[in-house]
Amino acid sequence: MRIIAGTARGTRLAPVPRGVRPTSDRVRESVFNSLGQFFGGDALDLYAGTGALGIEALSRGCQRAVFVEKDRRALAVVRENLRRARLADRAEFVASDVGRALDRLLKDGRQFNLIFADPPYKIAASEVGGVLSWLGALLVPGGRVVIESGEAPAGGWVGQKGVTRRYGGTYVTILERSEITMIVAVCPGSFDPVTVGHLDIIRRASEIFDHVVVAVGANLRKKPRLPAVDRARLLEKVTAGIENVSVELMDGLLVNFAREQGARVIVKGLRAVSDFESEFEQAQLNRTMYPELETVFIMASAEHSFLSSSAVREIAALGGEVRGLVPEGILETVREIYSSPDGNI
Ligand code: PNS
Repeated sequence: MRIIAGTARGTRLAPVPRGVRPTSDRVRESVFNSLGQFFGGDALDLYAGTGALGIEALSRGCQRAVFVEKDRRALAVVRENLRRARLADRAEFVASDVGRALDRLLKDGRQFNLIFADPPYKIAASEVGGVLSWLGALLVPGGRVVIESGEAPAGGWVGQKGVTRRYGGTYVTILERSEITMIVAVCPGSFDPVTVGHLDIIRRASEIFDHVVVAVGANLRKKPRLPAVDRARLLEKVTAGIENVSVELMDGLLVNFAREQGARVIVKGLRAVSDFESEFEQAQLNRTMYPELETVFIMASAEHSFLSSSAVREIAALGGEVRGLVPEGILETVREIYSSPDGNI
């Protein structure tokens, strides 16, 4: 195996360690031809193996390359190949599994122009899908991800997007950033209990964003009537029919939760001018802590503009009718739980 083009052209690579499936010279040449004159910035070589893809990118003009490889023997081969290509001073190494490496790179705010994901055959299908959702955040606008696989991409969204070419038994898919970037939004609240107004906002958010994580949190200014797990359970029940919505418990700061979820947006419902002051304050503070996280407000529907969880609690506690105020599927539970007197509403 050799480096095909660029400053290290012709460099003969070290013998391939056992268990590593190298990208053949022919496939590598085709991949780089497909990428065209596209080299600059940084490259990320996941499941680096021999490092041939990352080294080829360095040779052709990428400034730096990060090699992720958990197998120590393979990593020693990558170092040796970089030494041979005289490119070692432009390389960084992460000796861990890909999931952990991506987590660290995301936390460090790293961005790449080119990302290679070339997993060993047997984990290709399962692992690539999981990893891919994180790669959008690591890619600069205009950057590309190259996925190599021993199997034709399955019908899912990876298969439908990007350009896949077949070289013998190897399939190579090249994806642009817009093809892998999922916009995840967090919809936080106390939801004590979830009302039809909340559900309306969650549903409308789910139509705008790829995924909505409903975060059941603690508002330290309020004492919840119901434990967070129970509030989350009610939310799960009423959102079960919305495919791209999930419900999570949130401890601590919303900005940290959003970062962990890979979310770029906070969605909040806004009912009246009276909501604005507190929401504006929270949005500004969250922005100070995490400037890349955008807060988006969805205007409450007119028929919900009067509705709040505290009103539902009060009406239920005083024996009033909460039908129409909370989703039908949890009506009985809300009546039962919130009507029992416990001294506070
Ligand atoms: O439904 P609520 O009570 O208006 O929801 C408020 C909530 C939970 C969204 C808010 O209190 C929150 O974000 N809590 C998490 C802790 C946090 O990040 N606080 C700083 C916000 S400026």
